Order: sequence, then structure tokens, then C-alpha cells
Amino acid sequence: MKILSIESSCDETAAAITEGREVLASAVYTQIEIHSLFGGVVPEIASRKHIEAMSEIMNSVLQKSNLTLDDIDAVAVTFAPGLIGALLVGVNFAKGLALSMGVPLIPVHHLRSHIAANYIDHPELEPPFLCLLVSGGNTMIVEVRSYTDFRVIGQTRDDAVGECYDKAARAMGHPYPGGSRLDYMADQTLSGMYKLPRPKISDNKYDFSFSGLKTFVVNLIHNTEQRGEPVYMTALAADLINRVTDILVEHTMEAAEEFGYRKIALAGGVAANSVLRKRLKKECEFMGYELYIPECKYCGDNAAMVGVQAFYEYLNGNTAGTDLNASATLPIDYL
Ligand code: KG4
Repeated sequence: MKILSIESSCDETAAAITEGREVLASAVYTQIEIHSLFGGVVPEIASRKHIEAMSEIMNSVLQKSNLTLDDIDAVAVTFAPGLIGALLVGVNFAKGLALSMGVPLIPVHHLRSHIAANYIDHPELEPPFLCLLVSGGNTMIVEVRSYTDFRVIGQTRDDAVGECYDKAARAMGHPYPGGSRLDYMADQTLSGMYKLPRPKISDNKYDFSFSGLKTFVVNLIHNTEQRGEPVYMTALAADLINRVTDILVEHTMEAAEEFGYRKIALAGGVAANSVLRKRLKKECEFMGYELYIPECKYCGDNAAMVGVQAFYEYLNGNTAGTDLNASATLPIDYL
């Protein structure tokens, strides 16, 4: 079954053609350059850029795979969560396409598709497993009970890790999105120079909170600079990444033990972080757990992961009609 998928939940316009877990073609057009002028994503600009890029990006995957629309058996689209205007562009495009082609329309939840990115490179991976999902807008630990059955064990009460990294990087003078820049610049030989707070949540030990840490780092930079003193940015980046990674890894390993998971997956844009990948690998090796991490190109937003999740949604009967709407905030366990 060949699925043509569309992704437009934030600032990447993406299309892909997949067959089961196999990626036949994938293309991503990123809008980062324009949003970086404003220090973050401007929703209206994102929607307009999606409209401009959508047809071209779809044609590029058809061309790359040497297929035509006649070869496509279903159309899939990210319908939630994300920026509402941006989502609506993809949803409307996909609806029109599916209707005109007379093929099923498969709505896909963005976070489910981030998890499904793991299936692309790991043909042996099957649920149940535990997933640490870390992206620009979300941070959570999820039980993946089946391909379409999820339970959230813990999640952020405020900012996602990506938001914390991006804002800290901005205060250090780097353009949006600064997460990967922070990763690149962090000098581990200088770690320990800055004592950063450790957020505590009393009523669910698996929940997270990163807004305090973010504010602490931003204030530290501004206050130190106002005093005319130097900020050792490479050391601060290392301390921030280490503090966040400690929390993410500890929560995940504790949850794996409590809920009896020996298979762990990492997903979302921040899964590209080198320290997180290394630390989780080390801990999982120590515990004898299997660890799955997507290839970096499938960690950020893309449509290949949408197509792979769509395949399982379709097998479960989760298709939509022309009344499909987008949702900015739908939880991962909506069905
Ligand atoms: O999953 P994603 O592409 O978008 C959402 O669906 O949110 O994640 C983007 C986030 C951004 O905050 C970006 O700074 C962060 O992932 N990111 C990283 C790295 N690469 C991307 N954060 C830390 N280290 C990286 N290497």
C-alpha cells in the first residue's frame, strides 16, 4: 500500500511516499531562515509559506520515486497538534487530494508519527515499548502499548525541552532554533562551572518542568553581562544540557523499571542531541535494555514518519471523511 503523506504542523513543509515502513521518497522544505529573523516561528508566515511550498514538495516526492498520483493508494496528513493555521493548510490540501483521487484519507497525530520515526530504521521494533518524546513543543514519557494505543506516564507542566534550549541559545546570541547550536558548542571539559537548579514536581514523579531552568539561564546571562562580567557560554551550554539530560534519562529509566519495559525508544527533534543519545545508550547498555533512536534526518519534522504511522492507523480503521478538521492541542491518546 503506497501512502502519500503531508506534514505542515509547524515550520517544515514535508511530503513523503511510503510503503509500510519503507520510505520510497521524502522531502522537507524548512522555513527556518525566515522565522529566524523574528527569533521564533511566526504562525501566519508559517501558514503562508506552507501554501506556497505544498504542491512543489508533493511533486518532488512523486518525481523522486518515479511514481504518479495513479500509483498512490491513500493520502495521510498530520491533523494535530501544532499551529492551527499551519495544520489547516496540510489538512485541506490532503482532503482535496484524497477526494479527487478517490482514495482513503488517513489523519495522523503528530506525536504518534515522531514515535513511528523509529520504525523506519528498526524493522525489528514492535510495541510494546517505552518512548521518551522530546521536541520543540512537547516533552513526555509514553507507553506505546500497540501501534495505535498510547498512555502518557509523564509530561512537561510548562515548556518543552526544545523551547528551553532554543530560548537559552537565543540569550547566548544564536538564531532560532538554537538547540542544535547549543549541542555543537557545549564544551564538556568545562562542565560544572555553573550550578543550575533542578526542578522538582511533587505529585507525579514522571512529570517535567523546564520553564524555571530556562528563565534561570536567560537571567544568568543578562545579569552577568549587565555587571560587565564574562559569561562562559560553552560551559553554560554544557551545564544546561547536562542538567536537562540528567532529568530526562533518570525519569525514563525509573519509568522503565516501574512499568516493566526493557525496550526504550527516543523520538522528536531533541532526540538528535548528542549528549542525550550517548547518556541513554550508556544507561540502557548498563541495564541490558534495547534502545532505539531514529536516524537524525527523521528526528525533526518530516512526512516519512507520518506515512509509517498512517499505515498502522489505516490497519486499525482510523480513516477520515471530508469533514476532517485540524486540532491545535489534541492529546496523543485521543483514540
Ligand atoms: O521535533 P521538532 O523538529 O519540532 C517539533 O515538532 O517540535 O523539534 C525541534 C526542536 C527545536 O527546539 C530544536 O532546537 C531541537 O529540536 N533540536 C535540538 C537538536 N536538534 C534539534 N536540541 C538539542 N540538540 C540538538 N542536536
